[in-house]
Amino acid sequence: GRVAVFMGGDSAEREVSLKSGHAVLAALQSAGVDAYGVDVQGCLLRTVDNPEFDRVFIALHGRGGEDGTLQAILSQAGIPYTGSEMLASALAMDKLRTKYVFEGCGLPTPRFRAMGAVNEADDILRDLSLPLSVKPSREGSSIGIRKVTSREELVEAYQEASALDSLVLVEEWIEGPEFTVSLLQDQALPAIGLSTDHVFYDYEAKYLADDTNYRIPCGLDPDTELELQHLALDAFRVIGCRTWGRVDIMQDRDGGFWLLEVNTVPGMTDHSLVPMAARAAGISFEELVVRILKDTLE
Ligand code: DAL
Ligand code: MG
Repeated sequence: GRVAVFMGGDSAEREVSLKSGHAVLAALQSAGVDAYGVDVQGCLLRTVDNPEFDRVFIALHGRGGEDGTLQAILSQAGIPYTGSEMLASALAMDKLRTKYVFEGCGLPTPRFRAMGAVNEADDILRDLSLPLSVKPSREGSSIGIRKVTSREELVEAYQEASALDSLVLVEEWIEGPEFTVSLLQDQALPAIGLSTDHVFYDYEAKYLADDTNYRIPCGLDPDTELELQHLALDAFRVIGCRTWGRVDIMQDRDGGFWLLEVNTVPGMTDHSLVPMAARAAGISFEELVVRILKDTLE
C-alpha cells in the first residue's frame, strides 16, 4: 500500500520536521516503497479523512504530531502508523510528567519542581540548588530552555518558558557530559556523547553549529556504556514506547547517570543522532527507515 510521510506541522519544530520528513521520504522511495510526503497543517482530522494512503510514517516533531493527538486520530481511523501509540507519545512529550513516572519507578532523574507562578521562585530555591534548568514542559529541540544561576534569572526564564507552555519544569542542573541512546525495535544502539561550546546542547548546537562534538564510540568503558543503554531501555519501557525513540541522559562528575527525557519522534535530519547511532551499528539510513516502517505491519 501507499505510505504517507507526515511532516511539517504547526509546532515550533516545523522546520526540523520538514528536514526529517524529506530525508525519510527520500530513503523510503530509494528503498522502493510507494511513499509520498504530506505537509500537515491545520486540522489533523481533515488530513486523515478519505486518505489516499494505507499507513503513515510520522515525521512530525512537537505538539500536534508527536504528542499523542495524531496517534489517537490514526488509531481511531484504523490507519497503522510508525512509532509510539497515544499514551506513550503524550507522556514523553510532557517532560514534567515523564519525571513523575521515572521517580515512581525508581529511575534516576534530576530533582525537580513544577513552577506555576513567579511568586513560587523563593519556595523553589529553598527546595532545589542552583544552577537550575528551566523548561517549557511540552516543547522540543531545546526551544525555550534556559540555564539559570540566580533568582532573577529564574523569574526571567520562567516568564519566557511560560509564554511557550502553561506547564513549566524547573530541574537541578547537571553539568554533564550529555549522552543520548537511540532505541530501535527494543534494542539500544551505541550511545553518543555530546559536547558543545554552548552552555548546553541547545537549538543552535543541534541544527546549525558545525563545532558540536559527537563522540561515537561515546568514550565510556564497555560496562558503563552497557549500564547507560540499560537505563535508556528502562526509560523507554516505563513510558511504554514502541519501535523507536531516543533517550537523553546526563552524567554527573561522580559518574552517575540522570534521565532527562524520552523522544518518541527523534530528529531524522542530516545532523540527527538516531541516524548517526544506527550507522555506527552498521544500519544504513535506508534500512533504519524501512525497519521503523515494518513495525507498523501487523
Ligand atoms: N525534538 C527533536 C526533533 C529531537 O528530539 O531530535
Ligand atoms: Mg525532546
